[in-house]
Amino acid sequence: MNAIGKCIFVVLFLEIAVSICQDDNSYKTCSKQLTYTIRNQIQAPTFEYSLQIPFCHQPFIRIMERAVNMSANYKFTATYFPTLGYFIDAINGVRGFYTVNNTWWQFLKAPDIMLQVGVSSYYPTDGDHIIFNFTQSGGK
Ligand SMILES: *[C@@H]1O[C@H](CO)[C@@H](O)[C@H](O)[C@H]1NC(C)=O
Ligand SMILES: *[C@@H]1O[C@H](CO)[C@@H](O)[C@H](O)[C@H]1NC(C)=O
Ligand SMILES: *[C@@H]1O[C@H](CO)[C@@H](O)[C@H](O)[C@H]1NC(C)=O
Repeated sequence: MNAIGKCIFVVLFLEIAVSICQDDNSYKTCSKQLTYTIRNQIQAPTFEYSLQIPFCHQPFIRIMERAVNMSANYKFTATYFPTLGYFIDAINGVRGFYTVNNTWWQFLKAPDIMLQVGVSSYYPTDGDHIIFNFTQSGGK
């Protein structure tokens, strides 16, 4: 192959790689898997759901989007902040009012490890069990 041929080959290869990354189904071939639980036991509507989700190297917000695609039980709203990324406002319409009654969504790794970073910065590892737990307590 001459230089031009090599160049065309590299460009084609990159295009194929990019199109694989953009394919919504590509994550199914990723070997990592996590469990994602959303739990609200403190006010109506109470719920608890868990899903097994395959994933590649991605921040957790992408897994949350995938959960929405996979199941009608997973809905969320979020606000995007410069630098910090997404902050989760509500899950299934349930919203924390920390200043009113200390309610908020805890972002946890099972069983009860509080994650110190947000959903845009946390990159899950294989076998993780991530929980969004609606809670009512001081010390947010
Ligand atoms: C969710 O589905 C839509 C429509 O098929 C797709 O465009 C989007 O990439 C999917 N999101 C994720 C995170 O898989
Ligand atoms: C907390 O306050 C909000 C806003 O007033 C209310 O909708 C919600 O039911 C309250 N939750 C609890 C557990 O008191
Ligand atoms: C989840 O929230 C409930 C209700 O506030 C609380 O009792 C429980 O300890 C929390 N779970 C974890 C794992 O922190």
